[in-house]
Amino acid sequence: MDKAAFSGFYKKSIAERQEIVAKEFMLTDAEKAMLTKEGPLPFSVADRMIENVVGTMPLAYGLATNFVIDGKDYIIPFALEEPSVVAAASNAAKLSSGFTTSADEPIMIGLIQVVKCPNATDSLIKILSKKNELLEEIMKIDPILVKFGGGPRDIKGEVLKTSRGEMISLQLLVDVRDAMGSNAINTMAEKISPIIEQISGGEVRLKIISNLAIHRKARAKTTWTKESLVASMGPETKMAGEEIVERILDAYEYAVATVFRTATHNKGIMNGIDALTIATGNDFRGVEAGAHSFAAYGHEYQSLTKYYKDENGNLVGEIEMPMVLATIGGTMKSNPMAQLSLKILGVKTSNELSRIGASVGLAQNFAALRALATTGIQAGHMKLHAKSLAAQAGARENEVDLVAQKMIEAKSFNQLKAEEILKEIRAVK
Ligand code: HMG
Repeated sequence: MDKAAFSGFYKKSIAERQEIVAKEFMLTDAEKAMLTKEGPLPFSVADRMIENVVGTMPLAYGLATNFVIDGKDYIIPFALEEPSVVAAASNAAKLSSGFTTSADEPIMIGLIQVVKCPNATDSLIKILSKKNELLEEIMKIDPILVKFGGGPRDIKGEVLKTSRGEMISLQLLVDVRDAMGSNAINTMAEKISPIIEQISGGEVRLKIISNLAIHRKARAKTTWTKESLVASMGPETKMAGEEIVERILDAYEYAVATVFRTATHNKGIMNGIDALTIATGNDFRGVEAGAHSFAAYGHEYQSLTKYYKDENGNLVGEIEMPMVLATIGGTMKSNPMAQLSLKILGVKTSNELSRIGASVGLAQNFAALRALATTGIQAGHMKLHAKSLAAQAGARENEVDLVAQKMIEAKSFNQLKAEEILKEIRAVK
């Protein structure tokens, strides 16, 4: 590969970049065709989305079924690469008694860092004494947001004692309505900074949104009855509903007790939330950052869900976490698949989408806990993963199901086994 071929790469057209890639990496015709084939995300849109675009990278797009949220039926698009996540969410939703949810007003936090104040505490007092005037100024920065009912709501602050001396951290609280809000907030924080410097006598440095969206949380709650838990185990089960509830509560306590388990417990929650976030064209890195920082906000890293028994011994699950899922904004508008997802969901507001996100997270977590605490994750997950292992082993479309079936019968799930079965099948033919 000649490094010089990539000089000024960003100034070239997509077709020119693809030519360079084909030549420099000696792509086969099939590889080149893969790169140049346009999918649902048009190249012209992708080229405006990120830099140095040479193609698009697809993910599987599936629909989770059976969700009833606040009495309304939903079909929920998931975009991801992991087998069994869609099936698990659909199963958990089917077994649940329906989700009841709530979500906060869409208030995001913009951080403004002020350093080199003559006296940070005095400067902070001065800034906060001018809060109303500052809010009025900030209100003028984004009149469209204000027209739609959003805008700045409050300014808070604290003095941080750091190894480089005291600094002020201001929090600008802004109602961003149905947007994610980073552009609006970053602009406001930047534009108000000269006035903050005048008042504080310090220097403003960082002006940027915080992904720890503690004022924009969503919650969901549901019950899984003992009866539905028994039914979920199939007719041969010897487990009673009470036992399954107890096992799931043990599994939950494990996540409460050790961060090694909490990490994976919360990862399971994010399986569904990320998939929905990506399918709707939202910022999954922001949602992830918000989730994990919230899990550690004010205490040790903790589970984002909680479980307990109700008075009838049924299992109740709850989730509460930041949920920044927008329904308007650049990427959402320009990505046709994101628009399709919003249409399938039938949502118009960030509030509704966030409540769906919370329900998905709870369902996903329950599905994994139920499986882990009873049959083990491999039974369901690997059953579905078997097809992808078969394909990886080189099975053709008409061979995949048979290879997967034989792996399930052998209860052995790895690529070597898939290759071995494939050889056997082909030998018989
Ligand atoms: P099952 O009991 O064999 O399912 O469970 P079933 O055949 O009785 O079907 C029940 C319902 O599940 C179906 O209802 C579907 O809604 C859905 P129906 O439509 O028949 O009325 N369903 C499917 N949907 C789509 N495609 C399918 C499919 N099969 C069932 N093929 C199931 C099977 C996989 C659902 C179950 O075993 C399960 O929930 N397992 C958990 C799997 C899981 O959590 N996967 C996540 C990835 S693993 C991970 O990374 C997270 C983890 O590490 C997190 C943690 O540690 O906490 C585990």
